[in-house]
Amino acid sequence: MKIPKKIYTLPLLLAILSICSCYNNSEEELYPNTTCITENMSLAEDILPILNNYQCNSCHSAASNSGSVNLEGYTNLKIWVDNQKLLGSIKHDGSASPMPKAASKMTQCDIDKVEAWITQGAQNN
Ligand code: HEC
Repeated sequence: MKIPKKIYTLPLLLAILSICSCYNNSEEELYPNTTCITENMSLAEDILPILNNYQCNSCHSAASNSGSVNLEGYTNLKIWVDNQKLLGSIKHDGSASPMPKAASKMTQCDIDKVEAWITQGAQNN
C-alpha cells in the first residue's frame, strides 16, 4: 500500500513550526530604545531604587558622607538637585565629579529617569 504524501508533510510542517516558535526575544532586545519610561517619575518608586541600585548611599548617607555629600532623605538630596551637581555628576558632563565614583556610568535610561524627575519638579513623591 502506498502512503499518501500528505501524511509525511504534516508532521514535517509541525516540526518546523515548533522549532521556529522557540524564539523568545524579550521586548528590550527587540526594541532597545523604546522602553525607557520617564513619565510621572516618583522619588520613592523610581529614583531611590535607582540610587540604591548604584549604591550611592554606601558613600553618601548620613553615616558615611564621602566628600561631605549626604544624599539620604529628601531635604539632603534636594540640595544636590538644586545646585545641579547631582545631574552633572551622573551625566559625566564635566560640571561635577563623575558618579558613581570609580565605577561605570549609569545606563542612559536611568540617567533620563533622574533628569525627568528633576524636570518634573523634583518632588517628594
Ligand atoms: C565609592 C564611594 C562613592 C560612591 C559609590 C558614590 N560616590 Fe558620589 N562622591 C564620592 C566622593 C569621594 C565625592 C567627593 C568628590 C570626589 O572625590 O570625586 C563624591 C561626590 C559626589 C557629588 C558632588 C559632586 C561635586 O562635584 O561636588 C555628588 C552629587 C555625588 N557624589 C553623587 C553620587 C551619586 C548620585 C552616586 C550614585 C550614582 C554616587 N555619588 C556614588 C564617593 C562616592
